Amino acid sequence: MAAVVAAKTLAEDLVSAAMGRCLPAALSGRDPLVRSSEHADFQSNIALSLARSAGTTPQELARTLQQELDAGPLTAARSGPGFLNLTLADSALWGLVAARLADPRLGVGAPQAGIRTVVDYSGPNIAKEMHVGHLPSTVIGDCLARVLGFLGGEVLRQNHLGDWGTSFGMLIQYLDEHPEAPWRSRDDAVGGFCAGDGDMSAAERDVSERISALDQLYRAARAEFEADAGFVQRSRLRVVALQSGDEPTLAVWRELVAVSTAAFQQIYDRLGVLLTPRDAAPESTYNPVLGRIVEELAAAGLAVESEGALCVFSDDTTGPDGQPVALIVRKQDGGYGYAATDLATLRHRVEALAADRILYVVDARQALHFRMVFSAARRAGWLPDRVHPAHVPFGMVLGPGGRPFKTRSGTTVALSELLDAAVDGARAAITDKPHGLPPAELERVVAAAGIGAVKYAQLSTSRGKNSVFDIEQMVSLHGDTGVYLQYAHARIHSILAKAAKAAAERPEEPESHEGPDRSLDTALPLHPAERALILLLDGFAEVLGEVATELEPHRLCGYLFTLAKAFTDFYGACPVLKAASPQSRDNRLALCQLTGKTLAQGLDLLGIQTPQRM
Ligand code: ARG
Repeated sequence: MAAVVAAKTLAEDLVSAAMGRCLPAALSGRDPLVRSSEHADFQSNIALSLARSAGTTPQELARTLQQELDAGPLTAARSGPGFLNLTLADSALWGLVAARLADPRLGVGAPQAGIRTVVDYSGPNIAKEMHVGHLPSTVIGDCLARVLGFLGGEVLRQNHLGDWGTSFGMLIQYLDEHPEAPWRSRDDAVGGFCAGDGDMSAAERDVSERISALDQLYRAARAEFEADAGFVQRSRLRVVALQSGDEPTLAVWRELVAVSTAAFQQIYDRLGVLLTPRDAAPESTYNPVLGRIVEELAAAGLAVESEGALCVFSDDTTGPDGQPVALIVRKQDGGYGYAATDLATLRHRVEALAADRILYVVDARQALHFRMVFSAARRAGWLPDRVHPAHVPFGMVLGPGGRPFKTRSGTTVALSELLDAAVDGARAAITDKPHGLPPAELERVVAAAGIGAVKYAQLSTSRGKNSVFDIEQMVSLHGDTGVYLQYAHARIHSILAKAAKAAAERPEEPESHEGPDRSLDTALPLHPAERALILLLDGFAEVLGEVATELEPHRLCGYLFTLAKAFTDFYGACPVLKAASPQSRDNRLALCQLTGKTLAQGLDLLGIQTPQRM
């Protein structure tokens, strides 16, 4: 199918053609400078820009272009010293609606085709429970993966799980010294179903209980590590045992990994993010090559000894004091850490995964780390110019009122708790008004609304800012929330369902309004609210392109929110089912349908479900 032309492209083509008719060849091929405008559909200041070269005045050139455009589908009004305010004919805009509606991709092209992007996101650490701090990376990374994929790109999701390093020596040693500590599966776990757990199976509940038990043990181990020098020593030996492949130590480690990854997957499934066990690219997988990586850096003179450690210094990565910061690739004790692992990881992504672009969706506090890693890799020759790595940072997660997000006892909030609270909040908000949903459907809608609310609250925050989670606010049916957008979508669905029912009861016009080739009457005049809605719908592809280049999901959120409001304005101003004529009704139903599809596609790219009824 031929690509669907956007309104702006159409306007550009028409202005270019007019330029071709009245300007010399050297000038007529210039960019027609069509931009969006508050005063008309678009504006252009091409007359100001070319008048001098064309040997005339801006006013005169504007007048000529206006006359050239006159008979066509784009009318120009002159304003100021030579501006053109451009308005597309109503028939041209209805034509665009018909074309978009007939295209399953809603007019969105594939600008990412041929580009392979690694998206590194989520990356929680083994033996710890996922907490609210893991939310931004998980949902922003997922949204970017979805958008890049939808735009035709090849996306490789990579979950850089923290499953290696000295803290595992500490934890395994602690577990060994405290065999009574509860974290292993209880035999009685299966079958003992308690009320109030929704539809969580016993096995799932077991996994989530085990990971929170582990999380507590981890804290206890950390406390002992800080207090007891003997334990520190024994933990060190345990790290050596782990790294040299001691079987009993490895067996415990494997069990920790299994419990943790099962718990993470449970969260991913509940959140509806795309990550699966196949996307796991844990730190431990790079362990075998770290020695070689560091040797190569040393042989190339890039890694030098400093206070017993091997470090890479770069001039372009200075700390707050202006001094070069060291990227420690081998610690004093001979161990390799996070930095060496990230160098090996980057090299793997360039060489084995053949990435063109590598996105690290990691919080802003690691900015310096990534600058140092990219710089070291470039100098080592592991990062050719054709590959573009980017740290995609985000701010902190805060609670109501912008205060630190903590439980009442002052600990971090587990992600599962936040999701439970959001689903409860959504249930309260939805059942607060008449809904008519049968219980099972209500529960599905409530879950979609609660989870969607959390994701939307994160994704609609400008990426560099801190996100604020206030349950009551984020499940509100009004305002810039996921629930509001889901409602807007469901309302359109109900309008279309009503129309289909009415059509079925009208024997003289039996065709269904849900059908793909709804015929539009392009001769109908446009109401200003229809025009505004059409121009907004027309901008969907452009917004997605911006999300893909700027890596900012909040732009898509802002677009969808504006779209939902424009639909409300349209629906208030233009009767649909009671339109003055069947043609007008059908044209407006087409607008409802295109808006519904655009909202559904947009929300899907945010990873948010769209229930048909709410
Ligand atoms: N596990 C890391 C952390 O919790 C995040 C991993 C990010 N990805 C990376 N390639 N370093 O901070």
